[in-house]
Amino acid sequence: MCGIIGYAGGKQAAPLLLDGLKMLEYRGYDSSGIAVFDGGEIKMSKAKGRLENLDEITDGGKKLHGVIGIGHTRWATHGEPSDINSHPHVSETGRFAVVHNGIIENYIEIREFLTAKGFTFKSQTDTEVVVQLLEYYHKDDIFETIRKTLNKLKGSYALGILAAFEPNRFFAVRKDSPLVIGLGKNENFIASDIPAVLKYTRTFILPEDKDIIVADGKSVCVYNTNHELVERERLNVDWDVESAQKNGYPHFMLKEIHEQPKAVEQTVASCVKGDKIEFENVKYSAGFVKKLKKLYIIACGSSYHAGMIGKYFIERNCRIPVEIDLASEFRYRRPILDKDTLTVVISQSGETADSIAAMREAKTHGSRVLAIVNVVGSTIAREADDVIITRAGPEMAVATTKGYLTQVLTLQLLGLYLSDKLGLNGESYRTYLEEIKRLPTAVQEVIDNKEQLQILASTYFGNDTAFFIGRGNDYALALEGALKLKEISYIHAESYAAGELKHGTISLIKEGSLVFACLTSDELYDKAQSNAEEVKTRGADVIALVKKGHTAIEKQAKHIIELPALSDEIMPCVAAVCLQLLAYYIAAARGCDIDKPRNLAKSVTVE
Ligand code: F6R
Repeated sequence: MCGIIGYAGGKQAAPLLLDGLKMLEYRGYDSSGIAVFDGGEIKMSKAKGRLENLDEITDGGKKLHGVIGIGHTRWATHGEPSDINSHPHVSETGRFAVVHNGIIENYIEIREFLTAKGFTFKSQTDTEVVVQLLEYYHKDDIFETIRKTLNKLKGSYALGILAAFEPNRFFAVRKDSPLVIGLGKNENFIASDIPAVLKYTRTFILPEDKDIIVADGKSVCVYNTNHELVERERLNVDWDVESAQKNGYPHFMLKEIHEQPKAVEQTVASCVKGDKIEFENVKYSAGFVKKLKKLYIIACGSSYHAGMIGKYFIERNCRIPVEIDLASEFRYRRPILDKDTLTVVISQSGETADSIAAMREAKTHGSRVLAIVNVVGSTIAREADDVIITRAGPEMAVATTKGYLTQVLTLQLLGLYLSDKLGLNGESYRTYLEEIKRLPTAVQEVIDNKEQLQILASTYFGNDTAFFIGRGNDYALALEGALKLKEISYIHAESYAAGELKHGTISLIKEGSLVFACLTSDELYDKAQSNAEEVKTRGADVIALVKKGHTAIEKQAKHIIELPALSDEIMPCVAAVCLQLLAYYIAAARGCDIDKPRNLAKSVTVE
C-alpha cells in the first residue's frame, strides 16, 4: 500500500526522499512523487510507474533543492495510476502539499461541500479533499487548521504536510494508518515503515492517533488532541541495515528464504529456555489457561495459513477447541466469544486493516488478545493485550517467507507453552522441543538441496495451472504452496484437502495436470497416497513431498522430494521452505517481477 516519507535536516532532501521511497517499494505502488521547500516555495515532481521514472525526471533528486520535504509511493485506490492522481497533492493556492496513506471514507461528501464553496479538483483521489480542506480552514494558526481538517475526515490516514508559510518544518498526523517518527542526528524523519529510514536511525517515536507531529532538523514535537506537548513511546530497533537490503541476491524473496535458518534460530532463542518456554510479554497463569474454553485465531492470507497449522497443533496438544477465521470474515460475522476465549491475531506487518478491525472487535467481546507480530511498534503489537514478536527481521518481498515460517513456529511454541501450563508436557512435548531446536539445521538442509527444485521448476514452469493437495497439516501447507505459486508466478494454482478431490475438483484433472501432493504426515500418508493414485490414474504428473525415506509414493509420483524427517507436527516448518523455493524458481523461470507482483501490496492497510 502507499508509502510515506518525510525529511527535515541539513542534507538535500530530494535524493534522501528518493532513497527512502526505494526502501518502501516493497509495499507495492504504481506511481510516486516528492515535494520540497525550494527557496520558500513548494516544488514538486511526480511520475507514474516505477520510481526510476521519478529518479530520472529529477536527476536523482538533484533538480529539487531544499532540506525539508515529503515523498510518497502510491498504490491506487481512488482513480487510476497517473501523474495527476499521484501524490503529493497541492491545494488551490499552492499553500499546502500533502502525501497520504489510507482512505478518506467521506471524501465524496467533502468534495461536494468544497465544490459548493467554489473549490475545483484536479484528481480523482480521496486525498485531494484533505489538502483543499487545509486551504479552506486556514486562517493563521496552522494547528487550528490541521485540527479542523482532521475533525472533518472519516477513515484512515497517515499524512505528511508542507505549508508554504512554514518553510522550516513539516507536519504529520496519523489515524489507523502506520507512521513512525525517526530521530536522527541533526535530522528527523517520518515514514510508513522502519526500513525506509533504517540507514539513518534506529531510534523511533510511535505517535498515537490524531497526534500532530512537527519536525525540523533539530527537534520533533508531538501534540495530542488537546494541543498539549506529549512524550510518546520510544522504540530502539535492533534490525540491521543489511537485513533490509538484497546483499547480492537477485530478489528479496530469495534472500529471505535463505535467512530462514537464522530467523528460526532467533525465534527459538527468544523463548526456549532449556525445556521451558517463556515469552517476554506473555505471562499466563496456569489458572488462566485452564479456564480457557476456546482459542480464536484471526489472520489474513499466509498468516491465516500459518494459523491453520497452529490450530491443529494447539488442539492436538492442549485439547482446547481452536476456531480460526479470516479477519475480513470475522469482523462482520457477529462472532461468538467472551472473556474465556483467547483471541490470537497473527500478522507479519501488524498493520493489516482487517486484522486490526477484527482485533478491536474481539476486544469488545471481553476476549483477551494475544498478537503474533513481526513488526515491533506496529498497530496490532501496540493494541493487543499481549504480544509475541516473531524474530524474522524486516521482510521486504511482498510474498512472505520467513515471516510465515516464524509464525508457524511461534504458534507451535505457543501450543507447547499452553500445554505445559495445562500439565500436558509429556513425551511428545519433549520430542517437539528437541526437534524445534534442530530446526535451523533441517531448514538449511532443504535450502542446500535446492538444485532438485530448480530442475523441477525448469521442467514445469510453462504449466498454466497447478494443484496442491494434502490432508491435515499438509492441507494447510497446500494452501500456502498454492498461494505462494500464484502470487509470484501468476500460474493458476488451487489447493484442496485431498479427500475433497472426488467431490468435484477431480473433474479438472486431465493428462499432464501438475499436482503437488504433500504427504509429510505418517498418520495420513496412506490416505493421501490413495488420492495421489486417483489423480495419477487420470493422467496427472504428481510431484510428492515426503519425509526422507518415505517413498512408497513412487508408484504414483513422477518426482519425489525428500525432506528432513521430523514429527508430523513439525514437518510444516521444513516443507514450507521447499514450497517457497519451488514457487520462487518457477516464477524466476517465467521472468516474473518476483518481489513486486502485480496488483499486490506488502502491507494491506485498507479494507
Ligand atoms: C502472501 C502474503 C499475504 C499476507 C497477508 C497478511 O505471501 O504475504 O497473504 O500474509 O496480506 O499480512 P500480514 O501478515 O502482514 O497481516
